[in-house]
Amino acid sequence: MRLGIVAEHRGETRVAATPITVEKIRRLGYDVVVERGAGAASSFPDSAYAAAGAALVDTAEAWAADVVLKVAAPTDDEIALLRPGAVLAALLSPAHSPELLERLAARGVTALALDAVPRISRAQSMDVLSSMTNIAGYRAVIEAAHEFGRFFTGQVTAAGKVPPAKVLVAGAGVAGLAAIGAASSLGAVVRATDPRPEVADQVASIGGHYLAVDAAVEQSTDGYAKATSEAYDRRAAEIYSEQARDVDIIITTAQIPGRTAPRLITAADVASMKPGSVIVDMAAAQGGNVEGSVADERIVTDNGVIILGYSDLARRLPTQASQLYGTNLVNLLALLTPDRDGQLTVDDDDVVQRAVTVTRDGTVTWPPPAVSVSATPAPKPAPEAAAAASTPPEKRPMSRTARGGLIALGMAALFAICAFAPPPLPEHFLVLTLSVVVGFYVIGNVTHALHTPLMSVTNAISGIIIVGAMMQLTVPSVAVQILAAVAVLVASINVFGGFAVTRRMLSMFVKGPQR
Ligand code: NAI
Repeated sequence: MRLGIVAEHRGETRVAATPITVEKIRRLGYDVVVERGAGAASSFPDSAYAAAGAALVDTAEAWAADVVLKVAAPTDDEIALLRPGAVLAALLSPAHSPELLERLAARGVTALALDAVPRISRAQSMDVLSSMTNIAGYRAVIEAAHEFGRFFTGQVTAAGKVPPAKVLVAGAGVAGLAAIGAASSLGAVVRATDPRPEVADQVASIGGHYLAVDAAVEQSTDGYAKATSEAYDRRAAEIYSEQARDVDIIITTAQIPGRTAPRLITAADVASMKPGSVIVDMAAAQGGNVEGSVADERIVTDNGVIILGYSDLARRLPTQASQLYGTNLVNLLALLTPDRDGQLTVDDDDVVQRAVTVTRDGTVTWPPPAVSVSATPAPKPAPEAAAAASTPPEKRPMSRTARGGLIALGMAALFAICAFAPPPLPEHFLVLTLSVVVGFYVIGNVTHALHTPLMSVTNAISGIIIVGAMMQLTVPSVAVQILAAVAVLVASINVFGGFAVTRRMLSMFVKGPQR
């Protein structure tokens, strides 16, 4: 099939495929055509697409392809350029654009809404919304840093001490976590709130401090937040008032699916902030988390607080956004092209494919049947049931008599060896016994996080064993030589296996070339 990448208009800076993703699409068997200039706004020149194996074509030819990839929803004029029977993949906001879906269905187009990818583990690699929101969270911090008149990081300089900026992130979903990570890596002191207590560990793991709101919240059953209770809102409002007086930057990302954004920061909170403070309201376009924020506007309040309500944060990083968008699209195309033969097929029995297909065979197929979200935390079992489930059925502690008998047996064996074995065996045996006891307690108490350095220590010990065993190989006794050879073999397995495992672990932290 022929696959067309079309140019975007009306302020859309992203493009649906980059030269890197074009190569991957071609490997799925498609002939790729790119509209001239399509990647200009995101710094991908036509020559790079040509080098990736795409043919450069004019607007009409790109739109006449069998499969058309786009970022923003098409206009009526663009829909008219689509061939009946073609497949279009773009951000279509199906829940909010019923007329657009009707027009696409009337044109006989199979429309795939990339913003309808369900948030389930299997579809994560195609989740365009998460990719874009991640970028937006990062960019919110960059916008705030650009407006803020001081460093984010604290410094001690010859000209005096600079305190770090204090950042509050409200809502620790995809955008919030990206903002926390970016702000803490710039050196700020970062605090975060979220009604879902399960995010506390995630916040801490990227350098933030979770501010728990001391009020009951309804347990989420689908991985998303529920509307908060009055008691929660009251306690949270107190925290926001305290924090507004203290912090320099506030980034709000709070959102409850299917509702207007909750109001978190009041005009009084804004008025209590220091002049020069910056607020980025990422939910400004959904009603706003901050009183006084306006979608797509930069507002400066009477007390000198800057409120940014930009709704195009991901578009402000077009090269990165196009690369992630394009990669998500390639992953979706791979699912839709199971035989890698350039033939796109939509399987209605597959939940992901069904969820993104919003028009097909002349009809609107939105909304799809509900998908159960695999991010759902498993319901907690009752304490007794949990205790019963966690106790292995057969394992019973050793009786006191059996333990006493074993100790007596061990002591008798030790006594016999010390009394009858020829010197210097008893001394060696004593050292071995003590080493086993000390080793058992030392190694048994090492926390899991330190098992990698522990492995290096065992490698060193194995090295000593190898040297000792090699020296024994010259002893004129076959039994000793066999034992020494076995010791060399087993210790070598430990050394080389340890290095192999360590190498694999370290390679997980190596930054590869940007793909
Ligand atoms: P998400 O659903 O992953 O996260 C939203 C978070 O808000 C959840 O963790 C939720 O628990 C939390 N939350 C809900 N009620 C809250 C409350 N009362 N107080 C504190 N936290 C609360 O959503 P995602 O994908 O992170 O998006 C966040 C927001 O950013 C959305 O409003 C989205 O539309 C917006 N967004 C804005 C962009 C821009 O350019 N301005 C670009 C992309 C997304």
